Amino acid sequence: MDNLSVDHLIGIEHLTPRDIEIIFETADRFKEVINRPIKKVPSLRDTTIANVFFENSTRTKLSFELAEKRLSADVVNFSASGSSVKKGETLVDTVNNILSMKVDMVVMRHPNPGAAKFLSERVDAKVINAGDGTHEHPTQALLDSYSIREKLGEVKGKKVVIVGDILHSRVALSNIYALQKQGAEVMVCGPTTLIPKYIHELGVKVEHNLRKALEWCDVANMLRIQLERQDIQYFPSLREYTMLYGLDKKLLDSLSKKIVVMHPGPINRGVEITSDVADSKQSIILNQVENGVAIRMAVIYLFASKINR
Ligand code: CP
Repeated sequence: MDNLSVDHLIGIEHLTPRDIEIIFETADRFKEVINRPIKKVPSLRDTTIANVFFENSTRTKLSFELAEKRLSADVVNFSASGSSVKKGETLVDTVNNILSMKVDMVVMRHPNPGAAKFLSERVDAKVINAGDGTHEHPTQALLDSYSIREKLGEVKGKKVVIVGDILHSRVALSNIYALQKQGAEVMVCGPTTLIPKYIHELGVKVEHNLRKALEWCDVANMLRIQLERQDIQYFPSLREYTMLYGLDKKLLDSLSKKIVVMHPGPINRGVEITSDVADSKQSIILNQVENGVAIRMAVIYLFASKINR
């Protein structure tokens, strides 16, 4: 088996194109496993994993836990709410206490950008970033690309537009790195105030007109407006945002070709995407969620093979 070039999964920025291929090839094998009547393999019977979530999550948390259990790992779950973090315990103290219980790997979501890297430099365990503030969400980008590969055959040469709140989105940044490393062309689309000033340094196209962006692309990844990360008002009202950047069925059907529609979730139905688009045949939103388990099984399996025992 080929080895990954990194010891922790902090971001897609640090992965090589070959790393992404290895993860996809491993996910292919696990996807076959999770479609069998017996969905479990004994691969990680000797591995203990802590899922440490300092921020809310539905998909990522459930998906990691399911992936770990399907690999037969022992799993402990930690949520900051209801923990001693509320009494002032630091991140490193919290995680070191968990590691004293002989944990091999930490899957962490944290509101601060850089928290996963900070942790990886201070603890003796593999660290998997499950989203660190506005920085990266590597497993989301991997499952997004994997879903494009599954739907369109390959990612190379495909045109992908990421629409919405690019400024506050870790999903956008991880997707830009992942798609470019696989040879896709990337465009971002949204109001000027929600496009970061450094975007051109990333080598992506910028389009402020949604119809033009959709006519250009093969795949549209519609992002949620992250109101919880917005300290000031970036657009006059949600209603106006929806009028300019929301994808509805009328707009989708009026395009000159059939595009693939994605969304990382959680969806705000009626804001960035209408229900009839989210639930349409062109949407692969639930395929993304399904593929998340196979991708996370692959990631955990590959990083577990690097644990020093
Ligand atoms: N896509 C995603 O990260 O969803 P959750 O916040 O529910 O984990």
